[in-house]
Amino acid sequence: MSKVAKLQCEGHELEFPIVEGTEQEKAIDISGLRKQTGLITIDEGFVNTGSTSSAITFLNGEEGVLRYRGYAIEDLAKNCDFMEVAYLLIYGELPTESEITVFRDSIRHHTMLHEDMRLFYNGFPRDAHPMAILSSVVGALSTFYQDSLDPNDPEQVEISIHRLLAKLPTIAAYSHNKSNGIPFSYPQNNLEYCENFLQMMFSVPSESYKVDPLFVEALNMLLIVHADHEQNCSTSTVRVVGSANANLFASISAGICALWGPLHGGANEAVVSMLGKIHEDGGDVDKYVDMAKDKQNGFRLMGFGHRVYKNFDPRANIIKAYCDKLLEKLDLDDPLFEIAQRLEKVALEDEYFVKRKLYPNVDFYSGVIYRAMGIPVQMFTVMFAIGRLPGWIAHWKEMHESPTKRICRPRQVYTGPNVREFVPIAKR
Ligand code: CMC
Repeated sequence: MSKVAKLQCEGHELEFPIVEGTEQEKAIDISGLRKQTGLITIDEGFVNTGSTSSAITFLNGEEGVLRYRGYAIEDLAKNCDFMEVAYLLIYGELPTESEITVFRDSIRHHTMLHEDMRLFYNGFPRDAHPMAILSSVVGALSTFYQDSLDPNDPEQVEISIHRLLAKLPTIAAYSHNKSNGIPFSYPQNNLEYCENFLQMMFSVPSESYKVDPLFVEALNMLLIVHADHEQNCSTSTVRVVGSANANLFASISAGICALWGPLHGGANEAVVSMLGKIHEDGGDVDKYVDMAKDKQNGFRLMGFGHRVYKNFDPRANIIKAYCDKLLEKLDLDDPLFEIAQRLEKVALEDEYFVKRKLYPNVDFYSGVIYRAMGIPVQMFTVMFAIGRLPGWIAHWKEMHESPTKRICRPRQVYTGPNVREFVPIAKR
């Protein structure tokens, strides 16, 4: 017998089906609610609302579990490179040797930007935030590839996916070069995805540049752990924009804007700024913990807390372990890493944080690794965007392939004035 939830309202008893996912997650399907009752539901911040069913990523916030297409994040981070994980997310299966070779070759083939597109960068102010450049240039891809914008044509979608994956690192590296006055380096297609990105970021025409394999390994790991996180703010944005049948470039550009916010992807930049501030202020970690607990203050410990994880964030564990390893191998003594470790310890023992289940999240340690690699703080959220791209694409594609796709259009409860008589301007 199928399970139902009963709702009593306004003298009626109604039944709604309970749907169950493959990991026994349950939800009340209220899609018939308004039709049957005229009522809607309110759920500020969508804390209790499932916007869709999805076969891409499973996470259990209580137990600290994260899996892409059924594979544990720990296994993927240890055994795969970012391209394999991108393939897994977008197409649903880990690729065979021949599949990944074809995929890598195709991505390589599309890494260059149209020469006219390089001119865009002249128009941005020198101090423009790279996330603003990233979203603008990604949006502008739809002006260059007008032949492949139809979201309902699988061939057009496929070529757009490859173009986006290939060009995002180039667009990102150029945004860094622009703000640093460094000439743009063309992609080198004998290099793998992460190597190519680092080469475009750091090589200069006057010197030969050798990519450090340690950095390549670190970057692959970081991009993998950021690659998807089910219906987070930016992914939901991509889905909402895409639900109107906006093209893939426009939808991803919107997702980049959402990610930029400091409560979302912008937190990795905010964490390093915060650690730097604590360091400059004499390293008094307790003072900042007290500030975060003070409700009058408005200060939050950046990199702590998560809407879904009420246990450790498994991504933070992977990154922290790698952080230790990298700093040791590079023989670097980063004072911010030391402050981060002290802050974590103090916060995890503090009743305020324990009670609210506030643990370090993915953004807490990633900045320390990026710093060790020489990536400037303004680029941190851009790195998150490169990592999250396959997830955004996978969700956009899944939504378009769904036979139940509808435009996302939430409702509201109106709380403004009732009808009023119009007052001419002279009498206001
Ligand atoms: N420092 C101090 N107090 C906090 C923090 C924090 N970082 N995070 C949450 N709280 C408190 C909050 O004040 C509230 O306390 P009370 O119950 O007394 O009112 C309680 O914990 C619950 O917080 P919330 O704001 O209702 O939780 P949320 O699920 O709406 O917000 C969050 C989640 C991630 C936006 C929030 O924890 C936060 O602002 N963290 C800092 C920013 C950050 O690190 N963001 C990156 C998230 S991970 C990367 C990503 O997926 O984008």
